[in-house]
Amino acid sequence: MSKQMSHLDNIPSTPGKFKMDKSPYIHNRLRWHSSLAKLTFWSFMFLGLILIFFFRSPSSNPLPQDPSRRSLRTYNWGGPAWEKRVRSSSRIRSRNGISVLVTGAAGFVGTHVSAALKRRGDGVLGLDNFNDYYDPSLKRARQALLERSGVFIVEGDINDSALLRKLFEVVAFTHVMHLAAQAGVRYAMENPGSYVHSNIAGFVNLLEVCKSANPQPAIVWASSSSVYGLNTKVPFSERDRTDQPASLYAATKKAGEEIAHTYNHIYGLSLTGLRFFTVYGPWGRPDMAYFFFTRDILKGKSISIFEAANHGTVARDFTYIDDIVKGCLAALDTAEKSTGSGGKKKGPAQLRVFNLGNTSPVPVSDLVSILERLLKVNAKRNIMKLPRNGDVQFTHANISLAQRELGYKPSTDLQTGLKKFVRWYLSYYSGGKKAAG
Ligand SMILES: NC(=O)c1ccc[n+]([C@@H]2O[C@H](COP(=O)([O-])OP(=O)(O)OC[C@H]3O[C@@H](n4cnc5c(N)ncnc54)[C@H](O)[C@@H]3O)[C@@H](O)[C@H]2O)c1
Repeated sequence: MSKQMSHLDNIPSTPGKFKMDKSPYIHNRLRWHSSLAKLTFWSFMFLGLILIFFFRSPSSNPLPQDPSRRSLRTYNWGGPAWEKRVRSSSRIRSRNGISVLVTGAAGFVGTHVSAALKRRGDGVLGLDNFNDYYDPSLKRARQALLERSGVFIVEGDINDSALLRKLFEVVAFTHVMHLAAQAGVRYAMENPGSYVHSNIAGFVNLLEVCKSANPQPAIVWASSSSVYGLNTKVPFSERDRTDQPASLYAATKKAGEEIAHTYNHIYGLSLTGLRFFTVYGPWGRPDMAYFFFTRDILKGKSISIFEAANHGTVARDFTYIDDIVKGCLAALDTAEKSTGSGGKKKGPAQLRVFNLGNTSPVPVSDLVSILERLLKVNAKRNIMKLPRNGDVQFTHANISLAQRELGYKPSTDLQTGLKKFVRWYLSYYSGGKKAAG
């Protein structure tokens, strides 16, 4: 039996390729010849592939010089007409005005801040990459709105150092209002790279260009209430710990605060971080609950309302956009100059962090009741357990520091603010998008 098996083992597994046993000499010669043929064949194949790759490679279609730009979409910028628009948009038109580069200008907060600065007579230049995290047509509509008030939004990415350097070459910005970021807590589980790209790499790139600019601008930038993470002590104060982020989004904002410290320490950049608490209002963000609840209630779709363990209430310190804008402008106006020049620190510079909230958290179920009254439609409520995907149970701001240092005093309650949001929503979506512009 075992003999039979060993005989069977000698038969090649592919029938038909079985060859008679040959003398060792012939066998070796044949093997040598066939190896040579194989080698020649594969060498030709390899050479052929290299030639194909060489002639079809994008190097005949040159890559941008700066390696950091390789991952970026190509945007059109530069040229005399473009520079003229950049200069005109950034021109200061009031006494004691400032010139501000607003990143994320086609975003929700960026649009409102840019418009408010322009109204005061400040010079404003926007920068945005118009990504499709949410409907880009809303960003385009905001762009059109700003365009009408004389604000030009340059289309580009904050990771594009050549573009940023060019902007600082054309305009000596006194301030940067940095709002460009990958926002949203849950999306971080889907696309973590976008948070690293915009909130960490992009922020560092911006600071690198700012530190080398002469004069260096003062920078005000958006952090987030999410840095308080799993803290249970309320209201949240700037002195509280921020080392327990509940989402990658929160972790990148916390990283931003540490990065800000470094650039302030080494290069003398004046940096102010603003921890916004759930901002809402007209021209808002479609990925936020107040916005998609409105859409779904009107469509008759059921909405998911989260509750914490043991029927615990989920609440947010909803802050109306006009109050946030006032806080941003006050932060710009009180920002001291950066102290460095040409990449060298000359003395200590200002480093600040402020909560910008409303100080009155409202349960999400109350938000829905207000929307029901304003929309005159009953919501189909679907109560669900708060998933552990980044959302926290509540947020509540202590704003005494911003009150003292910035004169920040929010004045819009949720009922009043939502009324303005709903009016805008109905005119934008039902009355035709153009009518709302
Ligand atoms: N809205 C809120 O409730 C809230 C709360 C806390 C913090 N924040 C922060 O405030 C800032 C503004 O938020 P928003 O609500 O206006 O968000 P938004 O998404 O409407 O605006 C951000 C804008 O930045 C742009 N952008 C993103 N990555 C970019 C990049 N790499 N280069 C150039 N542009 C880029 C986007 O296209 C978008 O238009 C963000 O930093 C956000 O994290 C917002």
